[in-house]
Amino acid sequence: MSVIEEVNKLKKDLLVITGDIMTGAVNDFWKRWMPTTKRDYLAMVIDVLSNLKDSNKMVALGNHDQWDGVETEQRLVSELEKIGFFVLRNSSMPISRGKESIYIAGTDDIWFTYDFTKAMHEVPNNAFKILLSHSPDVTTDINKDMKIDLTLCGHTHGGQVNIPYLSHHFLPINNPSKYLAGLIKEPYGYTYVNRGIGTLVFPFRFRAPPEITYFRLN
Ligand SMILES: [Fe+2]
Repeated sequence: MSVIEEVNKLKKDLLVITGDIMTGAVNDFWKRWMPTTKRDYLAMVIDVLSNLKDSNKMVALGNHDQWDGVETEQRLVSELEKIGFFVLRNSSMPISRGKESIYIAGTDDIWFTYDFTKAMHEVPNNAFKILLSHSPDVTTDINKDMKIDLTLCGHTHGGQVNIPYLSHHFLPINNPSKYLAGLIKEPYGYTYVNRGIGTLVFPFRFRAPPEITYFRLN
């Protein structure tokens, strides 16, 4: 809950989550390592997120959110919507203040029902654009003519156990040395890869602390 309290303290116009809200049951390899329980983790995480005070809340799904199948995925989306999140599923929406608007687009996870073209379809080319996509692999679909100003990703945990020259070999992304974590200057804008706040399988991190990221756009 301290994460929620920290986020609630921040003065902000928009709150976004770039996926992996829950941990999917994943595959048989990981099931051997993960504690199994009958607790309803989806309900627990929704209960925690319901304490966020912000009015503008948007989310894109991650691989774990889609890994347990369509039924769980739909339940997660439905519960997120009930507590005030806009779930951007290969879609976009503008945020307006006075006469000015920026566009937020979001994709589903790149291992599942990802559709980058559909996500960007209704975004005007000359608009200021923020793209939410769980995996940094989305950057392979972006060219400089699209002028996507800020692409927000997660997925990597910053390596979680970040051993120099070693950990990035195990990251499930195309270009781990570039997209391990942090801000990356692109020919068309910036990408930011957030280390997230959770862990996968083992409940510890090394040289990859959890983070809440605060952006001020000028
Ligand atoms: Fe992920």
